[in-house]
Amino acid sequence: MPKLQRRIVPSALSASFAWLARDVNLIQTAGAQSIQIDVMDGHFVPNITVGPAVVESLRKETTIFLDVHLMIENPLQYIGPFAKAGSNLLTVHWEACLPAGRLAQDPLTVIREIKKLGVQAGMAIRPKTKADVLFPLLKELNYVLVMTVEPGFGGQVFLPEMLEKVRILRRKIDDAHLRCELQVDGGISRQTAGLAAEAGATSLVAGSAIFGAPDPVQAFRDLQKLVQ
Ligand code: DX5
Repeated sequence: MPKLQRRIVPSALSASFAWLARDVNLIQTAGAQSIQIDVMDGHFVPNITVGPAVVESLRKETTIFLDVHLMIENPLQYIGPFAKAGSNLLTVHWEACLPAGRLAQDPLTVIREIKKLGVQAGMAIRPKTKADVLFPLLKELNYVLVMTVEPGFGGQVFLPEMLEKVRILRRKIDDAHLRCELQVDGGISRQTAGLAAEAGATSLVAGSAIFGAPDPVQAFRDLQKLVQ
């Protein structure tokens, strides 16, 4: 089994929204290959953050891979504007794709629509959602995201019971010889990054552990070394 390449993905949720491009470029010079932009609509999660206009402005100021995590209802309506704004990856929530009876939000439809826009496609699951809902979608996905906290806020405590989902998806991806990245997000720190990496995560999102640290550059480098 080739050694998994594992990457720490800083989350902009804990960066300065007043100096977003500065913080993003700082962490890119530290070696970060991508940044996660957490989009929240106040409906799917009880918090509101940014929209396509912020992604568009950020796109003009940085060359980094923009990993946009859409914690929003009705994702099909918004993937176009976020793709046009310059997102490189759009991750939607499985739970937001299936309002009763509205087939147009079928997860596979959303994934295919994202890829038609020339953007990588990811699907996220909340802590209460089982891993197997993603099985039929894995071959179409560039990323799967196992939330290791309830989405909505940074700085929460890592939920270790989510590691079993990571192990299950790792096995499923490897057995099917797929190239889908396995991402975790929420409470990733020096204490938890190794656990998530061992369980099979290849992409680990960290916000407060990086931008909440006195020296975000060093914090990123320490975390990246931990999972390498
Ligand atoms: C929750 C957010 C957070 C964020 C990372 O909706 O998705 O998980 O990216 O936050 P930390 O690393 O501070 O837990």
